[in-house]
Amino acid sequence: MRITAPDDFHVHLRQAPLLQGIVRDTAHVFERVLVMPNTDPPIVSAELLENYRAEIDAALASGQRLSTLMTFKLLSSLDPETLPALKEAGAVGGKLYPAGVTTNSEDGVRDVRSISPQLEMMQELGLVLEVHGESPNGFVLDREAEFLPDLEWIVTTFPSLRVVLEHVTSAAAVHALERMPERVGATITVHHLLITLDDVIGGKIRPHLFCKPVAKREADREELLAAVFGGSGRFFFGSDSAPHPVSEKEASCGCAGVYTAPVAMSVLAELFEDHGVPLSEDDRKETDATSLERFTSRDGAAFYGLERNTGILDLAEEEWVVPASYGTVVPFRAGKILRYKAKKEGGNEP
Ligand code: NCD
Ligand code: ZN
Repeated sequence: MRITAPDDFHVHLRQAPLLQGIVRDTAHVFERVLVMPNTDPPIVSAELLENYRAEIDAALASGQRLSTLMTFKLLSSLDPETLPALKEAGAVGGKLYPAGVTTNSEDGVRDVRSISPQLEMMQELGLVLEVHGESPNGFVLDREAEFLPDLEWIVTTFPSLRVVLEHVTSAAAVHALERMPERVGATITVHHLLITLDDVIGGKIRPHLFCKPVAKREADREELLAAVFGGSGRFFFGSDSAPHPVSEKEASCGCAGVYTAPVAMSVLAELFEDHGVPLSEDDRKETDATSLERFTSRDGAAFYGLERNTGILDLAEEEWVVPASYGTVVPFRAGKILRYKAKKEGGNEP
């Protein structure tokens, strides 16, 4: 099975020493990725953005290619006058992290109204606002729903700003999105389509499934599946692949994040197939609302106003066992047998 090589509109590629392995695993499957800026220090200037992109490029194996769409971190202290230079340096968007909601977000935004000048400038420059939509102070299962009024405020106050609500996890967010204008989209991860909070803490604790926003109830997962399979084009793929070394996951105070890059396309292929949804556009019948190829390789590009990728992803029907770890990182579905092997054509084995 061959489909257009996929985009991943939300990845964490990290920094050395993790960077090289992560970049190579990601480039093995994906042609283009939207790179998150929550590094240390964060990406807040054109120079930092250019340096980070160069580090990513240098981490690729020989013959590998990965197109990087870069983002910067929106801080209240960020001078709006630096945004044109960030755009010039290649930024396609700016990421809003409410303060303290996730990894490296202590410096995040305390009140979305405090970044009005930056949002105004982003709107003017045509930069996309990517939002981690969780309100910091609420009960963890309610944080996404509680952030929605802030999202509404942004969308109505900046009437031509394009906004992506990242990694939606709740029925409330899906329904809110459906009522918003088409310039508001959302990414959905692989893991939130497959797990609920029961998988994380319902039995023994599973630190490698712990992420932000936390996986929610079965009813929420069903709404996410309906959003993806409904094929509106508003909900496109962003893995939020977020590796941490095993020592920082299996710890008394462990980090949030699930490493999905190496398995995402294989797991999605099974999920779509199990729901009777075609993998490729060529196999899509009139009665099918969508295909895996749309979700991963068309809808996000269309939302961002980008050309479709030209490469091919080969999804071979070939069983393989997900490694117990990639370097120091334990991946999603470690040790499990998957039915599809995904490999981008043109990308070399790491
Ligand atoms: C991400 C990380 O580790 O950088 N963690 C996560 O649980 N998803 C940050 C984020 O996207 O929230
Ligand atoms: Zn993320």
